[in-house]
Amino acid sequence: MPLTIAELETPMPVVDLDRLARNLDGAAAYATAHGLALRPHIKTHKSTRIAGEQLERGAVGVTCATPFEAEVMSGVCNDILVAYPPVGALRAARLAALPRTTKITVALDSLAAIEDIAAAARDAGRPVGVYVELDLGMHRVGVPRIDEALALARAVRDRPPLVFEGIAFYPGHVREQPDQQDAKLEELSARLGEVIRVFDEAGLHPRVVSGGSTPTMWRTHELTGVTEFRPGTYVYNDRSTASIGSCSWDDCAFTVLATVVSTAVPGQAVIDAGSKALGREPMRGVEGEGFGCLLGRTEVIVKSMSEEHGILDLSQTSWRPVVGERVRVIPNHVCIVVHLNDVIVGVRGDCVETSWAVAARGRGYTIEI
Ligand SMILES: Cc1ncc(COP(=O)(O)O)c(C=O)c1O
Repeated sequence: MPLTIAELETPMPVVDLDRLARNLDGAAAYATAHGLALRPHIKTHKSTRIAGEQLERGAVGVTCATPFEAEVMSGVCNDILVAYPPVGALRAARLAALPRTTKITVALDSLAAIEDIAAAARDAGRPVGVYVELDLGMHRVGVPRIDEALALARAVRDRPPLVFEGIAFYPGHVREQPDQQDAKLEELSARLGEVIRVFDEAGLHPRVVSGGSTPTMWRTHELTGVTEFRPGTYVYNDRSTASIGSCSWDDCAFTVLATVVSTAVPGQAVIDAGSKALGREPMRGVEGEGFGCLLGRTEVIVKSMSEEHGILDLSQTSWRPVVGERVRVIPNHVCIVVHLNDVIVGVRGDCVETSWAVAARGRGYTIEI
């Protein structure tokens, strides 16, 4: 007899396989329709199995943030972008030590990072591709000025075995509903056009222009010159992506299955998913909107938490759960919640079909003292 969802222990991270497949298919079809290279960011799922499904559907490679993610993904993917500054000899050496059959590219924004990855690439005797990162509005990493970016690209060109491959940016500052992104996307597009023109005139044509996020993914083709996009959250989606309209509630594939353990205090119900199961990330960085909401009852939010207790606010619903009842929580930020778990369970309807490891969770350090 197959296991049903009612037989699972709680709290349990559960993925709806039909929704996952739909999300994967949608992104792949969009990439094909617009001739864009899809290089999904695996920070959301950290799983070789889902990376494999993305590659099978036509992804050109994957994007990682950490050396451990890249090490784990090199088991299934031979074209990896590490979209994180390769600063520090240890980090750079780990990247350069990835299998030679894997094409490695890094995104960076400083001469120090160039020197670190150039030294590691020379020591390892292998090429490493480089995207020069520009800040086009998010104000996290990336050089703000085109002349600075050009200087970095020249420094890369002068340091074989580094190979200048192109430019990168992350539009993380665009978090409006897709139909309200016009002003920011137009500004982004104009800046990109200018960057590409200046690079071309300098004889440093960016073969790749890499951008993309989940909130902007369906409008990537409108951005001047973009060749590659890197959405991550879209595989599972979450309360944040649904609430800003970059997906519908029906596209939320990941939930935390939980059990109501107390209704003793009026106006609330307590579930066995607290901060150690749901994370503690506020919505859009703003306190007061809770830490998740219920699948099928999005008006019911997890208003507060202790480590193993989640407090459901029942003030906006006539629903009155009983002790022992099961609920499924859509977390605010799914990437953080996935990273709290070793294993994810895949379900189809009520049927538990499969499970997979969050293989790239953690840092993969080897410390011997
Ligand atoms: C550099 C970079 N690229 C792509 C992504 C994916 O963006 P999203 O999670 O909106 O899909 C992220 C997310 O943090 C990122 O940091």
